[in-house]
Amino acid sequence: KTVDWEAEAAEKGGYDHYMLKEIHEQPGALRQTLSGRVDEVAGDVDLDVDLSSEVLADVEEIQLVACGTSYHAGLYARRLLEEFADVRVTVEVASEYEFTGGRDPWETLVVAVTQSGETADTLSAMRKAAKAGARTLAVTNTVGSTAAREADDALYIRAGPEIGVAATKTFAAQVTALSLLTVHIGRRRGALSSERASNLLENLRGLPGAVQQLLDASERLEAVASEYVDEDAYFFVGRKLGAAVALEGALKLKEIAYVHAEGFPSGELKHGTLALVTEDTPVLTVLTEGARPKETLNNVKEVESRGAPVIGFSSYDAAANYLDVEIPIPDLGALEPLVANVGLQLFAYHVANELGRAIDKPRNLAKSVTVE
Ligand code: G6P
Repeated sequence: KTVDWEAEAAEKGGYDHYMLKEIHEQPGALRQTLSGRVDEVAGDVDLDVDLSSEVLADVEEIQLVACGTSYHAGLYARRLLEEFADVRVTVEVASEYEFTGGRDPWETLVVAVTQSGETADTLSAMRKAAKAGARTLAVTNTVGSTAAREADDALYIRAGPEIGVAATKTFAAQVTALSLLTVHIGRRRGALSSERASNLLENLRGLPGAVQQLLDASERLEAVASEYVDEDAYFFVGRKLGAAVALEGALKLKEIAYVHAEGFPSGELKHGTLALVTEDTPVLTVLTEGARPKETLNNVKEVESRGAPVIGFSSYDAAANYLDVEIPIPDLGALEPLVANVGLQLFAYHVANELGRAIDKPRNLAKSVTVE
């Protein structure tokens, strides 16, 4: 028994939980995701996928299918692909794909985003698309997984094994890999100049360091979590890429802390949830440049005037006065919300830890869900 315990402690590398270890592994994981794939001078990427300019010229729509955290990575990627590759994109929860998917397959690229490569709903969606004749790509962490084997192409996110049930480093690696895919597609479709691509790639190069900066603020987030641990509900808001991260932040808290949390685009606050906002409902907000932070700030003021504590992850200077807690996010363009997400992971972790939850194996949940 003692030996087991020691072996496990050693595997956790000194951290109390795998989840915390994996949160801290993110800078290294992201360096792996990027390694050997980026040519910043040429403003291009080198991905081992069969998606040539000819193939991509015929693609009218990209459909991302995924579940859980991977779905949120898909939401992030949608905005990147729209902005940098100028292509029509839909994102569908994989279990809903059967009701809509498979139309116009000859002009559709279906991208299955799945850490494990074994999620039953995602595999079904991918199979439906393939059967209809669409081209498929699996974005996965697992070499040799069913998704990787069955798809026409696989793009590996190279995050390394993830033991904690709640996905952390694999979300960051998915978004990073999908950013590379965005450059690949944007360049080959002639929609993305090498200058804009270089700029995005430069931000990707800065990503591991920026994530490290958030990790260095870990104690601060632990203190914030213990201040706001016992509340009625938690709301997470952001716009554009920040909206995807808001959903992911809420999911993390639900999964591991078992408290009610909801994420949605900031603009939606006033259309319902505002009725639930009180001084016992902290609002966590992602305020990043390029996503109308002014308007988000107006939403923030509305919740603040109802007494809600506002915790802001912000690269927007004008925000500080309106926030009860400000966690600064370094300037990193389209990757800023991904950096903010690391802060949300730490917040969820520390809330769950204060509550004494089984963080690595939350009740009722599984790492990989192989039933529909
Ligand atoms: C389960 C896990 C989640 C994960 C989801 C999709 O619900 O608990 O963390 O996001 O499956 O998994 P996948 O392997 O397809 O990314």
